[in-house]
Amino acid sequence: MRYIPIMGYKTFTTEQVDALAAEEALIEVKKLLKLVGKADFAYHSADDPIMTDAEYDALKNDIMLLAKKFPLVRVEVKKEERVGGTLAPGFTKVKHVIPMLSLSNGTSNTDIFNFEASIRKFLGFSVQNSISFVSEPKIDGLSLALRYESGILVQALTRGDGINGENVTLNAMTLPDIPKRLSNKFNVLEVRGEVYMSKHHFAELNRSHKEIGEKIFANPRNAAAGSIRQLDPNRTAERKLGFFAYSLGDFSEPLAETHFEALNKLKELGFRVNPRVKLCSSIDELLRHYEEISCNRAELDYDIDGVVYKVNEIKLQRRLGSRSTTPRWAIAHKFPPEEAITQIIDIDIQVGRTGSLSPVAKLQPINIGGVIVSSATLHNEDYIAAIGNDGLPIRDGIDIRVNDWVEVYRAGDVIPKIKGVVLEKRSSTTKKFKYPVVCPSCGSPAKREENDSISRCTGAIFCPAQAIEGLKHFVSRRAMNIDGFGNKIIENFFLIDWIKTPVDIFRLEKSFGPDSHIRLEDMDGWGLLSAANLFRAINEARFTTLSRFIYALGIRHIGEQVASLLAKNYLTWENFYSQICAAHSKKSDQWVDLCSIDGIGKTMAESLVAYFYSEHTKNMMSELISELHVEDFEFVESKRSVLKNLTVVFTGTLQQMTRLEAKARAEEQGAKVTSSLSSKTDLLVLGENSGSKARKAKELQVKIISEYEWLDLLSKAD
Ligand code: IVH
Repeated sequence: MRYIPIMGYKTFTTEQVDALAAEEALIEVKKLLKLVGKADFAYHSADDPIMTDAEYDALKNDIMLLAKKFPLVRVEVKKEERVGGTLAPGFTKVKHVIPMLSLSNGTSNTDIFNFEASIRKFLGFSVQNSISFVSEPKIDGLSLALRYESGILVQALTRGDGINGENVTLNAMTLPDIPKRLSNKFNVLEVRGEVYMSKHHFAELNRSHKEIGEKIFANPRNAAAGSIRQLDPNRTAERKLGFFAYSLGDFSEPLAETHFEALNKLKELGFRVNPRVKLCSSIDELLRHYEEISCNRAELDYDIDGVVYKVNEIKLQRRLGSRSTTPRWAIAHKFPPEEAITQIIDIDIQVGRTGSLSPVAKLQPINIGGVIVSSATLHNEDYIAAIGNDGLPIRDGIDIRVNDWVEVYRAGDVIPKIKGVVLEKRSSTTKKFKYPVVCPSCGSPAKREENDSISRCTGAIFCPAQAIEGLKHFVSRRAMNIDGFGNKIIENFFLIDWIKTPVDIFRLEKSFGPDSHIRLEDMDGWGLLSAANLFRAINEARFTTLSRFIYALGIRHIGEQVASLLAKNYLTWENFYSQICAAHSKKSDQWVDLCSIDGIGKTMAESLVAYFYSEHTKNMMSELISELHVEDFEFVESKRSVLKNLTVVFTGTLQQMTRLEAKARAEEQGAKVTSSLSSKTDLLVLGENSGSKARKAKELQVKIISEYEWLDLLSKAD
């Protein structure tokens, strides 16, 4: 490796730092930052380092020293970080051209038969229409999107939250399974697949980490995730990761007409495609393949957690499209969960953000399939008492007690569950568990509504546990996505009264930033960089989308999908807020509008309206909004979003596509589909044998079109 020492640069001594005036320090630090930039470029891009690692560290250390002493320098360092400068740890976030979806799951054969049935129903296919599928092992790693432009690898992104991924290009380039150049010179070809660590490399890595006292990884997936996100690409290279290509993302020209052919083309281009991929022509064949793979699972040198079934014909995949986070044309058939027996040490009651009390079994820690499990969900009071949702006994009527031995199982990443009690091991001294009648956090009475299995704390905004859980939800990845704001930090900040409501988060820097009397950077466990990083993440989160923001509020019954449905229907925050406030009167047009949104049930509508009607929300909302920039809703436009903002109603029997497909296609083009006609309807699509809707539409002066005119409209979009 060629190494040219940096001329004229020597580490600062403490005396030198002390002797500098602020302006001088600023001039010095600008020079140093420039040097770091050069060194980074030389190292990462030119593969021709200009300094040793030790010198590089010393250089960064000097910058820290100067920044610690001079506020002016701190500002400069932060500015550098903001423009994607060299000191920012971690990776830049990049938006996926096509979102990276996840897969819906099935665990039983019935789930898979239902999967096929739902596809047939959506497409209006009878048993005569054949559908071919591809069955592939589901690799337990992490997905990566590789973008090639004119045959050259230009970008590698992790999945991230599915919308934005982390740019790990330099690291991905070190994987031998990832071609840097392709013989195919398409303008754009994005190849997606799974990065994984083989079982034997995983064992080797943990062995050597144990020897040198470094972090031990819980499983190969965690090890692969940690390895692809190394700050130094050489470190990634040492971890010997593998990559299987399994689909395409963005492309300028299609590669094939079927998924199976596309995989073959990818093989020809030099990618590794899993050798156990199989083309199948029926569900029975898929299920046989599943059995075969699950029997051979232990022989594979990489972890798989199920088998993925995909509709083979790309045209059909396109017609089927996706729900908000999963495609309709694929499903993961997961392997059954792994089990172990352990003892319950205690039963904790956790308070959720909406006041729900959830019992959790604290377990004697146990290793289940490579993961240490120390707690399991107990669902609710009835579950502990061995009463099922239908009021009938479960587990042969055996209740769950502290000190009981239980069979625990875990499926995927979800919180482990209890399968049964080992009665033979129960001690005679155990007693039935007494379910609390007050909230363990605030002492308010817990109330259980009729027909509800959950009891809830009635302390509302006065309950600290609810407030803390609400804040954790607010900053979480799928909500406001504030990086580095972990649960512990929220709990600490709440306890020391720094953050009580979401508004306080956005005032944190003003109150406890570098120019304040009490500074976060001086707190135990914090430093200049970590504090600056948190402030930066908070500032980035000020720019958010309408659906994220609605979801982040943590309103009962308003999950992620409903939040995005609301955003799609109301488009702007101002409109949403005023309409929902006005919907409080059940006689209002706004209430009728809200309830007529397909997918919004009465319970959701009531919860939403009640939330915004509360004095507490109203007071908080204006302050919170003044801290944010909530983007108007913008759906992912296809070539021409011909139906943008139109409200459409379908009636009668359509001949060319099912109602389900028609609705999905309309929504893809930005339309709202409602079930009932009103003066707000823009378009009525008339199928055969329609009832009274056409007459009503005429009265309301709503435009009526035939199914063929409707298809014509859609074809303009394709
Ligand atoms: S297809 C539209 N195929 O499973 C979804 N995914 O639970 C496209 N995975 O995020 C994914 N092996 O990381 C697909 N053969 C395979 C896969 C696979 C593993 C992972 C992938 C995805 C996750 C979804």
